[in-house]
Amino acid sequence: MRFKDKVVLITGSSRGIGRATALLFAQEGAKVAVNYVNSKDKAQDVVNKIKKLGSDAFAIRCDVSKEKDVKNMINEVIKKFGHIDVLVNNAGIVYDVPLKERSLEQWKRTIDVNLTGIFLCSKYAIPHMEKKGGSIVIVSSTNGIDCFNPDSIDYDVTKAGAIILTKDLAIALAPKIRVNSVAPGWVDTDMNKDLTKEFIEEETKRIYLKRFAKPEEIAKTILFLSSDDASFITGSILKVDGGYS
Ligand SMILES: NC(=O)c1ccc[n+]([C@@H]2O[C@H](COP(=O)([O-])OP(=O)(O)OC[C@H]3O[C@@H](n4cnc5c(N)ncnc54)[C@H](OP(=O)(O)O)[C@@H]3O)[C@@H](O)[C@H]2O)c1
Repeated sequence: MRFKDKVVLITGSSRGIGRATALLFAQEGAKVAVNYVNSKDKAQDVVNKIKKLGSDAFAIRCDVSKEKDVKNMINEVIKKFGHIDVLVNNAGIVYDVPLKERSLEQWKRTIDVNLTGIFLCSKYAIPHMEKKGGSIVIVSSTNGIDCFNPDSIDYDVTKAGAIILTKDLAIALAPKIRVNSVAPGWVDTDMNKDLTKEFIEEETKRIYLKRFAKPEEIAKTILFLSSDDASFITGSILKVDGGYS
């Protein structure tokens, strides 16, 4: 068990990649704080599954874009588990809307959740990680590197920002805290549930491995980067996209 009694906070772990990551850390013995914003029942289901695995967990509602919520979430984690070893900044949203129809509210909300959320969660978690050392993993996307689409313009900008944030935080927090990013390509989660069959077929043709990733495949990379196996890796961006051109 690589994370026996380690404390892991995963934002957006009620569903998708975050959920798979929470369950994987629990299998490795970690105590997990399961964050959600709307899906209380789904978050509780993750907690129940973790407890069945013999580990400890609790669900915590927090909108990562709201400073007051984030402060409260970090305080709750410290109250329950005493410190934080690993922070996974995973929560994210996307509005697939044609550029000309995109509203300012959608633009701002995407920036607030996907980018400001990482800043806030890191800012308030870091003081509780510095003493013992730890690891931060930021879930960015290949959309921040080389897969652009004007229908997700603000999303792409937040993911490019998440990558720069990874590098800046890695410098600022070395040598005590390692900071890395996983950049997934297409993953089979709710985030993509409204994509058309035709679009999925076209995109699948471009993926060397000819399929979308399973959330568990991203979770394994997050776990690796958080673990001692990655003890000399910081400031890195690891693409997990099945090959794409
Ligand atoms: N799926 C992909 O193809 C893909 C590819 C590259 C990168 N990613 C990135 O991977 C991350 C996870 O995506 P996913 O596909 O797993 O998405 P998902 O299935 O839609 O799940 C999103 C998660 O984020 C949470 N969340 C949303 N807004 C939040 C907020 N304001 N505060 C706290 N939590 C919030 C949701 O909580 P509720 O359940 O409470 O709403 C949910 O747990 C995102 O950063 C996404 O950009 C995904």
